[in-house]
Amino acid sequence: MNPFANKHLLLGVTGSIACYKAADLASKLRQAGAEVEAILTQAAQQFITPLTFQSVTGRRTFVDADLWGAAGHVIHVSLAEKADLMIIAPATANTIAKLAHGQADNLLTITSLAARCPILIAPAMDGGMWDNSATQANVQLLKARGVTFFGPVEGHLASGLRGVGRMTDPADLAGHIRYQLSRGGPLTGQKIVVTAGGTQEPLDPVRVLTNRSSGKQGYAIVQAALDLGADVDLISSPTHLPIPAGANLIPVKTAGEMLEAVLAAIMDSSALVMAAAVADFRPAHPAEQKIKKENTIPPILLERNPDILQTVGFLKHNHQYRGLTIGFAAESQEVLKNAAGKIRAKKLDMIVANDIGAPGAGFEVDTNQVTLLFPDGRQEALPLMGKEEVADRVLWEMMRMMGVEGASSG
Ligand code: CTP
Repeated sequence: MNPFANKHLLLGVTGSIACYKAADLASKLRQAGAEVEAILTQAAQQFITPLTFQSVTGRRTFVDADLWGAAGHVIHVSLAEKADLMIIAPATANTIAKLAHGQADNLLTITSLAARCPILIAPAMDGGMWDNSATQANVQLLKARGVTFFGPVEGHLASGLRGVGRMTDPADLAGHIRYQLSRGGPLTGQKIVVTAGGTQEPLDPVRVLTNRSSGKQGYAIVQAALDLGADVDLISSPTHLPIPAGANLIPVKTAGEMLEAVLAAIMDSSALVMAAAVADFRPAHPAEQKIKKENTIPPILLERNPDILQTVGFLKHNHQYRGLTIGFAAESQEVLKNAAGKIRAKKLDMIVANDIGAPGAGFEVDTNQVTLLFPDGRQEALPLMGKEEVADRVLWEMMRMMGVEGASSG
């Protein structure tokens, strides 16, 4: 499910050097599947032209002159009415002040007054202007009326100084917009817990035992669940991936920490998806100080880690946990036989099995080729597909098992 599909987004652009970032934002939103229409203020046109936005959105861009055209008496109403979300990025201190006080002296502020959809504001200004008590009071007023603010963030400002005033990065803004658009989806009110990444088991303060899991499949599951409206706890070991906007990150490193986090998170959840590659063993006696090479080559004695899914399986057996449990099995041989064994041993509702040796499947790559296995013996082999598509399929099966409306097509 793509939260941007069939969505009309109205992008208001005001006079700030961050206008160039607004063009990037418009482009990202359109590429994600939304219809984007931009309104530029007079001041914005000192920094960027309507043609820039027309080029990236593929639609007409509106300016104050349109207010006085043939359709001027209704243009603000028609723009406001079809918008699912209005975004003002960058928003200057002046425009924020006008919005707070209901002043409507240009197409953008008139349209904002007419809008019935949620409004999201990404301010951009000098740090001193942002800190000014007048600006802060205006922001509080708008927040109290339900307007959402993202940023500004800290960093280098146009003045050459550092401070809080930079517009939030367009990729982050696009993520927040995606999250906002997804609310109200079929998994609204359901909490899904997802684990991702390879756990890290310390050998000494510098070294860890870990594995090749990138976390990509788990993070794709998180995004798919968020896109369907779920509340998502992401229990993740360190990865290089951005955290999907709206996910509640619970950072962990070791299998022991992951077990603790899972047990704390699942009790009010509808499902647990264990996409993490959990280390089965850890060094039995991690050194307190760095192991030096001058000393003898140290043997590494390992001890067993807890099996997280098996622990949850016991809770399920005792009716202490009533949600679904979905596991992953990355196998290098006898894939289906091993995966079927894990369904039974861990009391799973579904396992996603893949052959890590198959081309295009497994660690680090963006694609995966998996078979879904169920406790009743049913198996469904899926073709090679992107990890996002695998995530959509897993979520679809999950919704089917939960009996959630919206799982009508696969
Ligand atoms: N898993 C877990 N706790 C562990 C090991 C694995 O919860 N200590 C979960 C994984 O997150 C995955 C599933 O169990 O969802 C299967 O993991 P896998 O490593 O394939 O299987 P293992 O049970 O560890 O068995 P083996 O390594 O012997 O194949």
